[in-house]
Amino acid sequence: MYDDPDIFDRKFEHIKIVLDKNVDYKIGNWLEYVHLIHVSIPEFDIDDVDTTVDFLGRRFSYPILIDSMTGGTEKAYKINEALGRLAGEYNIPISCGSQKAALIDNNLVYTYRVIKDVCPDCFLIGNIGGMDIVNNPVEVAQEVVSMVDADALAIHLNPLQEAVQHESKPKYSSVLESIRAICDSLDVPVIVKETGAGISMGVAKLLESAGVSAINISGAGGTSWSAVEVYRNLLRSDKLMAEVGKTFWNWGIPTAASLIEVVSTVDIPVIASGGIRNGIHVVKSLVLGARLVGMAAPFLRAFYKGELKFFMERVVNEVKVAMFLVGAKSVDELLEVNYVITGDLFEWCKQRGLI
Ligand SMILES: Cc1cc2nc3c(=O)[nH]c(=O)nc-3n(C[C@H](O)[C@H](O)[C@H](O)COP(=O)(O)O)c2cc1C
Repeated sequence: MYDDPDIFDRKFEHIKIVLDKNVDYKIGNWLEYVHLIHVSIPEFDIDDVDTTVDFLGRRFSYPILIDSMTGGTEKAYKINEALGRLAGEYNIPISCGSQKAALIDNNLVYTYRVIKDVCPDCFLIGNIGGMDIVNNPVEVAQEVVSMVDADALAIHLNPLQEAVQHESKPKYSSVLESIRAICDSLDVPVIVKETGAGISMGVAKLLESAGVSAINISGAGGTSWSAVEVYRNLLRSDKLMAEVGKTFWNWGIPTAASLIEVVSTVDIPVIASGGIRNGIHVVKSLVLGARLVGMAAPFLRAFYKGELKFFMERVVNEVKVAMFLVGAKSVDELLEVNYVITGDLFEWCKQRGLI
């Protein structure tokens, strides 16, 4: 079905590079330009803070998403097993990594399915690339969903990564119409996500009119897929594409800017991700209008340090403290919280007609 013999090495290399190298954007996620106004008298107790949130018909205990990462290798099986258990323990949604490897080799299905095996009730989001759906979109989407018994499907957009990747020649001409065909016929909600370069208001409008149920902006400021491909290109002695990748290391719409663009454009729920690293980032994103906030690399790093639970506890405690300090008892009340936007983000919003 797919001509992609390198996919098995690639999935393993991605994990290794993200763990071994600093592949973060060298620009921040721009949430540093969002200043929440401190409230000295919150008028409730910290134990009154309610972090539950409704998203696509389900209620979660925290507005946190374990974002798409892996599958397709034995290592990925172990990672997905641990992440699935975490999702169950904390009642949070989880997305698996691209299932393309298992479409090519059916023997790899177990490395994704393990999430539902360890957590039958969890809200699992399946995952496939925009470029991987253009031939037989509906059949591919249905297979991806049924493969893991997914509750929603995420279609990822990664034109930046594909454009700087040694073995790839991105072809995006039929992606939007394929997304539309899938939205028209799939019986679970479709989420479209970026992979770290952000979604603009123009793209958000196209996606909403194609019928997607939610958008995950995945903006610039966290894992840079151009940076990851720099290291993969060097492994293949492809000096030319390594240099091109370096040039695009910081390419993209910073997370805070992308989030403001998208929430001000669409009426569907928006997920913030891309460089979210702590509970203050989570709460700032919710104040700006995100419904859920996703993290990818931080969960991977915590897994390898044997600190998944500690990491999750740290973030949920930070979320509660930040909600308390802005005087918001619930996730909905965060939408009423006062904030100030400064610096480059203010300039961006002004020029894009957002303030
Ligand atoms: C090791 C790794 C593998 C990833 N694989 C996928 C993938 O298969 N599908 C996808 O949609 N996004 C994938 N992503 C992208 C993330 O879901 C996310 O959009 C991006 O990394 C930005 O978030 P972060 O800064 O928290 O890592 C991957 C991220 C990491 C770190």
